[in-house]
Amino acid sequence: MPLPEKIFLIGFMGSGKSHWGHIWAGQHGVDFFDLDTCIEETAKMTVAEIFEKQGEEKFRKMEHDHLRIFQNKKNFLLACGGGTPCFDGNMQWMKTQGTVIYLKAMPETILKYVKNEQAGRPLIKDMNPAELLLFIQKKLAEREPFYLQANFVLNVEALNKDSLWQLLNKTTNGNA
Ligand code: S3P
Repeated sequence: MPLPEKIFLIGFMGSGKSHWGHIWAGQHGVDFFDLDTCIEETAKMTVAEIFEKQGEEKFRKMEHDHLRIFQNKKNFLLACGGGTPCFDGNMQWMKTQGTVIYLKAMPETILKYVKNEQAGRPLIKDMNPAELLLFIQKKLAEREPFYLQANFVLNVEALNKDSLWQLLNKTTNGNA
């Protein structure tokens, strides 16, 4: 069964968008992109440096513009940034383009994955573990109304290498 031509993976920081996106794209023989990496390659700076030197607003503009580049591509799986669906009409735009899948993780799962990788994530880099869990809970509640507009939701705690295929197969057979 072929994949949809354009798949957008969304979800909070640390929900495994890049990890699983890379694995699933490889399995299905489609291109994998990471939106943050695309931005970093153009800017020749890390996301953390962009936030620090140019501010979040500029980053959101770059994120918006880089996302639109995918209008002209197909047969890809794109891992978006955690904030991508929540700004600048990006969610609506992705849904007009292709299939959006929300990787839904519990706050405790997110905490486990981001707590050793805070330095590269400007929104959380200076937080201690207690602040971090509170931030995740609050931000996730704010963002879920956007995330839940996705075409499909996959629970991160149950993901495996066949999850994408199983989801799409089930949907095609009318069982979703
Ligand atoms: C952000 C998430 C990051 C990155 C930037 C902002 C966010 O992406 O785009 O630091 O607003 O949640 P990841 O979800 O890949 O960490």
